[in-house]
Amino acid sequence: MITESQIARTRRIIKDWQNQDYSICLVPTMGYFHDGHIGLMKMARKIADKAVVSLFVNPIQFGPDEDLDKYPQDLEGDSRSADNAGVDLLFCPGVSQIYQENHQTTVNVPGLAEGMCGLHRPGHFRGVTTVVSKLFNIIEPDMAIFGEKDYQQLAIIKKMVADLNFSVKIIGHQIVREVDGLAMSSRNAYLDPDERKVALLLSRALEMIRKQVELSETPLETAPLLDNAEQFIQANDACSVDYLTIVDSSTLQPKSKTEGECRVAGAIKINNRIRLIDNMPLRCRT
Ligand code: PAJ
Repeated sequence: MITESQIARTRRIIKDWQNQDYSICLVPTMGYFHDGHIGLMKMARKIADKAVVSLFVNPIQFGPDEDLDKYPQDLEGDSRSADNAGVDLLFCPGVSQIYQENHQTTVNVPGLAEGMCGLHRPGHFRGVTTVVSKLFNIIEPDMAIFGEKDYQQLAIIKKMVADLNFSVKIIGHQIVREVDGLAMSSRNAYLDPDERKVALLLSRALEMIRKQVELSETPLETAPLLDNAEQFIQANDACSVDYLTIVDSSTLQPKSKTEGECRVAGAIKINNRIRLIDNMPLRCRT
């Protein structure tokens, strides 16, 4: 595996591969790899000739009160894991490579970025779409893989690519979970053993809703389903709900009834310190 931090040298490697007609798949990440990231990398290896992983903790997608300063990092361990997963190029630029002094341009998808995590993390998705645009311009991948774990992010990137005519195919990868159902996340590293137990409340609450919808012959009102799930989570003092919603899978607009293509999604805070997100598709019968 090649590891490169400079944009100019990365472009030369990419150009060389393009000249040989190799297809290139990009997996953008912020590092501290777990099996979720590794799943995306292995998929990239399978579907393209060259798998490129970017590792960049993007400062502009973090709010002033968020965890940028303590975001977990382990470049050595990450390099080993990416190499083992069959990655061809690990692009890990420094902040000054990506954001030159007086950087001004941003990319925004205001509609889809409005609700859900967007409400609680103002400016977050603008930071994501800006850096992902830059990565697409640097790597010029034929395909890029994003996890459904960040379902709103995936929807926003798809819309950005369509709206701005990027010639990259966006592919979603299903959520990779721990055996007990907790969605894997770099932020799970913040959880102490008690908090790790509390963290399960989110996937359990979503699963409760998923089962109720699956068992119902007719569409259900979403409000009572969500109220029940919220009460189930908030019964634990360490846990507060940022949001819990059932949305249309494509538009991300809240649904009042479970019909069509729906997704239940939520975010919780544990001890007002650690924010976790999760979501699941709902199999509605109508
Ligand atoms: P990061 O949180 O490191 O995630 C990188 C990719 O891994 C994202 O596409 C995310 O959805 C996916 N991922 C994380 N946990 C997953 C899981 N349990 N199952 C499946 N996929 C999972 O998302 C970001 O970084 C950043 O916002 C980024 C897109 C790199 C822009 O800075």
